[in-house]
Amino acid sequence: MSTFRVELKKIVDDSYDIEIGYGLETKLINDIKFGIAGNIQKFAIITDSIVKDLYAERIMQLLIQSGMQADLFVFEAGEKSKTRRTKEEIEDAMLEKGYRRDCCILAVGGGVVTDLAGFVAGTYGRGVPFINYATTLLAAADASVGGKTAVDTPLATNLIGLFHQPKKVYLDIAAWKTLPPRQIASGLAETIKHACLANRDFFDYLNVHIADLKTFDKAVCEHIAEENCRIKYSVVMKDERESGLREILNLGHTVGRAIETVSDYRLLHGEALAIGMAAEVNLAHELGFMTKQERDMVIDLLQKADLPTSIPSYIDRNVLVQKLYTDKKVKNGKLRFVVQKGIGDIVEYENGVFAIPIDESTARKIIMTMS
Ligand code: GLY
Repeated sequence: MSTFRVELKKIVDDSYDIEIGYGLETKLINDIKFGIAGNIQKFAIITDSIVKDLYAERIMQLLIQSGMQADLFVFEAGEKSKTRRTKEEIEDAMLEKGYRRDCCILAVGGGVVTDLAGFVAGTYGRGVPFINYATTLLAAADASVGGKTAVDTPLATNLIGLFHQPKKVYLDIAAWKTLPPRQIASGLAETIKHACLANRDFFDYLNVHIADLKTFDKAVCEHIAEENCRIKYSVVMKDERESGLREILNLGHTVGRAIETVSDYRLLHGEALAIGMAAEVNLAHELGFMTKQERDMVIDLLQKADLPTSIPSYIDRNVLVQKLYTDKKVKNGKLRFVVQKGIGDIVEYENGVFAIPIDESTARKIIMTMS
């Protein structure tokens, strides 16, 4: 009978700062006082059972001392907690404590915390602001920047989520010293991924300095934090919603995410990614985009970082091949991989399209012949 048009054209400014430094808790509190999240007095601090004692508790005390309301919402550390159930439990606890739309969520922790807390923030009261205080190399390298938030499902990782940009990101390098070596290596996998897709000089730098990161050499930590950041935000600024270029950040993740789920999270995200990177460089070599020497250099660097590059014996490779179809890049039932070109560049399949259709037989051959 009638047609009405609802005009909703928008100009949105979701710009934010990423601050890199050491022990940034006081800086965070001062920024909050000066309105980084607007005129908000209530802070729901979402953290995990490890980071609670290391950082989150102190941040809560500082907020309370500054006259604000702050409460901790803590879940069991580990990827297995990144679920809809944990999200629901946190939401119910926040409702119970009287948190409404006039709150800000403060994510304090690694990638699991920032992914989950960002998703809570994106849907709580139809969206409240959030701030990321990243305490791991993995969160600094990837998860805390770019506004991707999500939870895992039994089928695969990160299938349910939304884009919601933080008000600010703090990368606390001092916190890296609290990480076990496996977690440092896990963060290095995302770092090596960045070097492989965007910056050959950074790759060479990592080759020389990777051991210095393990001893927390200040200059090396800072360079790694800054370079990761530069690569990540340059891509996100051009394609926030992954309609093209942002797909390149998926390098190594087609096999990586699949093996992470098939391992039932025995592999940390970065460990799974390292195996995915090994598969991807084998594929790139098979397709003629990398020389044997370049492929071996990537595998060597992953190994230097104490990361796995072969498929563990407990993984059923046929199940792994089928799991590839849960990847978000699959289109019309066809597998698509991001493939690097040499070291420091990515193959552009078509104008603005970076994920290349790959036959299952080719993917299967790579997976079946890997060590
Ligand atoms: N972790 C990949 C991305 O942020 O797009």
